[in-house]
Amino acid sequence: MKVVSVINIKGGVGKTTLTANLGAELASRGMRVLLIDLDPQASLTFSFYTIDDWDALLAPNLTIQRWFDAQNNGHDPVRLSELARAPAGVEGSIKHPNGRLDLVASHLGLINIDTRLASSMSGGTFDQVRANVMKTYRMLADELRDRTLRRKYDVVLIDCAPNFNVLNKAALVASDWVLIPAKADHLSTLGIEYLIKHLKDLTSDYKQFLRVRSPGEPQYPRISPEILGVVFSMVPKRLDLPIQAVRPFLEEIKQLQGVPVFETIIRQSTALFAAAPRDGVPVSVATSVPADVAKELDDLAEEFTNNAGLKGIE
Ligand SMILES: Nc1ncnc2c1ncn2[C@@H]1O[C@H](COP(=O)(O)OP(=O)(O)OP(=O)(O)O)[C@@H](O)[C@H]1O
Ligand SMILES: [Mg+2]
Repeated sequence: MKVVSVINIKGGVGKTTLTANLGAELASRGMRVLLIDLDPQASLTFSFYTIDDWDALLAPNLTIQRWFDAQNNGHDPVRLSELARAPAGVEGSIKHPNGRLDLVASHLGLINIDTRLASSMSGGTFDQVRANVMKTYRMLADELRDRTLRRKYDVVLIDCAPNFNVLNKAALVASDWVLIPAKADHLSTLGIEYLIKHLKDLTSDYKQFLRVRSPGEPQYPRISPEILGVVFSMVPKRLDLPIQAVRPFLEEIKQLQGVPVFETIIRQSTALFAAAPRDGVPVSVATSVPADVAKELDDLAEEFTNNAGLKGIE
């Protein structure tokens, strides 16, 4: 099972849309996909559920909030695998018999989660702080080692909020791969540079913490979240090619050291992508999608599968 964080410090670059579409496309190729909505905005959740259905079916006790409460407030323990559900609206669109698309939904009440997590890490001696930080950073990683979950899914896509707070650090610590959606503009380039710097700092802090170990503390595994690549999304195209005005920004990002860039570029299409969440079915598995857009999403899944070492699972 591969774990992939879909992240960019910059907001509104297409992270959630890409997560939903890639997840559905992989499932329709026969993969067993788990989506985790780690963003308190819950946009990924609302790409599959109406607010009324979320309120009735998920909010009371089938969101990631229940898992956090169980971790931090001593509520009844619950596994993430018990919270995952297949959104009914999309099930009929996953044609492959082995394919599966489940979601661990988010909760709007998680808006203060980062402050809660940050305070749970502070206080005491250096050793206590270090132990608390490790426990918090490893929160998701340890959960995703659950055997039931690893047997059930081939790939986990984590939709992250646009920041580098504690929750996202926990997602990165749990990840094999980091997928970075980006728009073709200057601020996106800056966002990617910051993200990469923060990722390096996180990995090296974690490594430092691994070196010291208090008696009785578990031997934590090493981590190596690698950058799978930048995927350009929401790019204006004409005749299947990015318009002239955005090409310098595509080039700028390709020049960044050590940052692979996906060949597939997802076009801007408000009519398709902005409307799909209302129907609860991602464009990649919807009917009557124009051939050029369907091909882009197909190419994206193909490139993703090859680069992430998932070939042969479908
Ligand atoms: N390829 C696209 N073409 C047109 N509109 C798009 C495309 N991809 C996403 N959008 C729209 O752009 C907006 C932002 O997209 P999305 O929510 O996926 O970004 P995000 O990076 O997850 O945002 P946030 O940082 O708030 O989590 C949404 O309204 C979405 O419907
Ligand atoms: Mg989002």
